[in-house]
Amino acid sequence: MQAHGSTQPTTDQSPSRSGVFSAQTDKRLEAFSESISFDHRLYQHDIRGSIAHARMLAHCGLLTQEEFAQIESALREIESEIAAGKMAWRPELEDIHMHIESALIERLGDVGRKLHTARSRNDQVNTDLRMWIRDALDEVDSLLQRLQRAFVDRCERDADVILPAYTHLQRAQPVTAAHFWLAYVEKFQRDRDRIADCRRRVNICGLGAAACAGTSLPIDRQMTAEELGFEGVAANSIDVSSDRDFVVETAFVLAMIAEHLSGWAEEWILWSTVEFGFLKLPHQFCTGSSIMPQKVNPDTLELTRGKTARVIGNLQTLLVLIKGLPLAYNRDLQEDKPPLFDSFDTVRACLELAIPIVEQAQLQREAIAQRLDDGFLDATTLMEHLILQGIPQRTAHHLVGKLVGMAQARRCRLADLTPDELRSACADLDPSALDALGVEKAVKAYRSYGSSNPQLVEEQVQRWRQRLQ
Ligand code: ARG
Repeated sequence: MQAHGSTQPTTDQSPSRSGVFSAQTDKRLEAFSESISFDHRLYQHDIRGSIAHARMLAHCGLLTQEEFAQIESALREIESEIAAGKMAWRPELEDIHMHIESALIERLGDVGRKLHTARSRNDQVNTDLRMWIRDALDEVDSLLQRLQRAFVDRCERDADVILPAYTHLQRAQPVTAAHFWLAYVEKFQRDRDRIADCRRRVNICGLGAAACAGTSLPIDRQMTAEELGFEGVAANSIDVSSDRDFVVETAFVLAMIAEHLSGWAEEWILWSTVEFGFLKLPHQFCTGSSIMPQKVNPDTLELTRGKTARVIGNLQTLLVLIKGLPLAYNRDLQEDKPPLFDSFDTVRACLELAIPIVEQAQLQREAIAQRLDDGFLDATTLMEHLILQGIPQRTAHHLVGKLVGMAQARRCRLADLTPDELRSACADLDPSALDALGVEKAVKAYRSYGSSNPQLVEEQVQRWRQRLQ
């Protein structure tokens, strides 16, 4: 049927330019406003959304079943064509939504011209992006789970290692290596919990909000939402058209992961220095120097730390982007995708490299053990021992500080102080207090929940093992 033959839009201009326009788009605007160079990544989600939309239109009598069948099969062909890299991107078609719709119209003519019934690109892009983010979050979640497993596996391998824990990067107290590794497992679990929480808000369908006010056409929004695996239907069409909270939230979740990776990277960069000598990094993830033959540089970790700056910057970009936008859709919102995609790509790449590094890095057990007597790691244990003997905490704290001063002057351990030296610090100090000293005893003496007590840590390792299965 060609009833509207003479008034049909041509395909050399964006289909969004209706009959109202009296001039062609300036080429400079075309280049300025295109988003196909980055939003082509949404093509699978866009096609999935369009098929669900068309199925719903047919169900509601806005398309015939035959028209739906044609649209579905043409959209699947277009999908394969894009997947095969055969579709040329044309800036005049602006974005992925227009490219797919134009390709559909090229194939099906008037039937293709019906797909955009009761839909706007405003609800369409919101829906596509939510579907894309769902998948992205799932992928990041499974990488985080693998990273957690890598740390838990290390707990068993490094079960007998005691490490100094630091505060202010000064030696603080002895801990088991497993306790250290589980600290990271906890952080990454919070990241995963944030993903799950964020995903709940992402997983709401805006399709059918149309431009901003909804539609007078008889559609079934519940049906498309269910078809696309959404958990609910957004209740306010104006909100849908303007909402990018879920993009900002995703960027925050990713930034928090990057922050955790960056702190870990910094720590392992330090640990792999000659000065620390705690860790040997796997050489396949290190680089050399073009001039200094001895160098093995921790570039993967440095770049993980460095790229975190971009991920934080992307969050800032998005927050500023939506600041002060009036309702509902504004074209500014198109700028959400480059920072979002970049944060995802960056965090994914960092995680993919972090996993094998955590799996393969080797603790330098001997170097660590040799220096566990440095830095009075057991001073707090001694203080707590004195507290148990009835000495008030503040007094014990002061007293042990004095003993540390004496040991520093003599360049010896607390355990090497003589009974006379002890008595000179405090007349009624029982020299048996020294029996509590040494990092092994200090570690075993911990008893509070969440402490580095080896038995308690082992219980946590088993708990994580089960949880991460
Ligand atoms: N490419 C656009 C975006 O990402 C799609 C929505 C365009 N809507 C419009 N009314 N021009 O936001």
